[in-house]
Amino acid sequence: MTALRPHAEQQYADELAELAATDDRPRPPGWRLSPQAVVTYLLGDGANITPKYVGPRRLMEIAVSTLATDRALLLLGVPGTAKTWVSEHLAAAISGDSTLLVQGTAGTAEEAIRYGWNYARLLSEGPSPAALVPSPVMRAMETGAIARVEELTRVPSDVQDTLITILSEKTLPVPELTSEVQAQRGFNIIATANDRDRGVNELSSALRRRFNTVVLPVPASAEEEVDIVTRRVAQLGRSLDLPEVPAAVEEIRRVVTIFRELRTGLTEDGRTKLKSPTGTLSTAEAISVLTNGLALAAHFGDGVLRPGDVAAGIVGAVIKDPVSDAVVWREYLETVVREREEWRPFYRAARDA
Ligand SMILES: Nc1ncnc2c1ncn2[C@@H]1O[C@H](COP(=O)(O)OP(=O)(O)O)[C@@H](O)[C@H]1O
Ligand SMILES: [Mg+2]
Repeated sequence: MTALRPHAEQQYADELAELAATDDRPRPPGWRLSPQAVVTYLLGDGANITPKYVGPRRLMEIAVSTLATDRALLLLGVPGTAKTWVSEHLAAAISGDSTLLVQGTAGTAEEAIRYGWNYARLLSEGPSPAALVPSPVMRAMETGAIARVEELTRVPSDVQDTLITILSEKTLPVPELTSEVQAQRGFNIIATANDRDRGVNELSSALRRRFNTVVLPVPASAEEEVDIVTRRVAQLGRSLDLPEVPAAVEEIRRVVTIFRELRTGLTEDGRTKLKSPTGTLSTAEAISVLTNGLALAAHFGDGVLRPGDVAAGIVGAVIKDPVSDAVVWREYLETVVREREEWRPFYRAARDA
């Protein structure tokens, strides 16, 4: 049996082993690698270490060095800016374990961050260490590892606040057992939060003070975004074992251009103002449109990615609200796409989609 999606520390085990073997810089207590080597793991070295994050090196240096202090790390940004992706790779490189994860939702309860009980045992034996069910955060404290909290701002405020003691005192009291779990060295927390959720359950100032915030930007240029999408689409194609379809630079460039233009509300040449659709057209969505296109081309096409293989995906990504987004898309199609001579086949495919 093969896992559908191996964890980062499994998928990149060779790279992590190579880095560990050659890393001669000091490692913070509880860390598998030095901060320098963690950044190399994230950004690649041009040889055996492949880049995972494409973007400013400085941001990764700040993120990694934060984790070596007593402050936790908050990755903030609009959807699809690789917050989850970076946090998984950071945990894999630092602790060798990216699985200590709490998914934040409006329904996240205190037990998900502290601990719960196995009620059958609790009723038969009373409170005992064996009846206690530790949360991922508690396990990270015990083992000196990184815990991840996804979408922290969606978690109700009172539940968020259970993190304050954990982060300031580095201990988690268990009053039922008159005991506590003291965090071991190497423990820290990476939280992610969505810019767009701002105001949903904004972090209390007491909690915010425990975090250093790193804002992950949308890719600075079209070239950078094409680079990210090309790499990820190739990786995903390999891990899904899709029949090899030649990297269609032209199609990738077009998807990225369309998404960027609609996102910024301006054509690439700066001449035409556009209305933006309601949804976020993120890099992550560009990746998924192209991966779906490749699957179509591989299984039902002639093995070459054609405009028709991505058109439906693009339209689906743009039109989230069937009324207002459809108007935005039609206008873009007729005033921008149609005017581009080389885009004619795509124009026809998109019109039919
Ligand atoms: N700057 C980037 N570098 C590398 N991959 C990126 C970048 N931006 C987006 N991605 C890709 O986009 C996908 C979605 O990212 P994700 O971490 O889920 O976004 P977020 O959590 O910010 O919403 C991932 O597959 C990731 O590889
Ligand atoms: Mg995410």
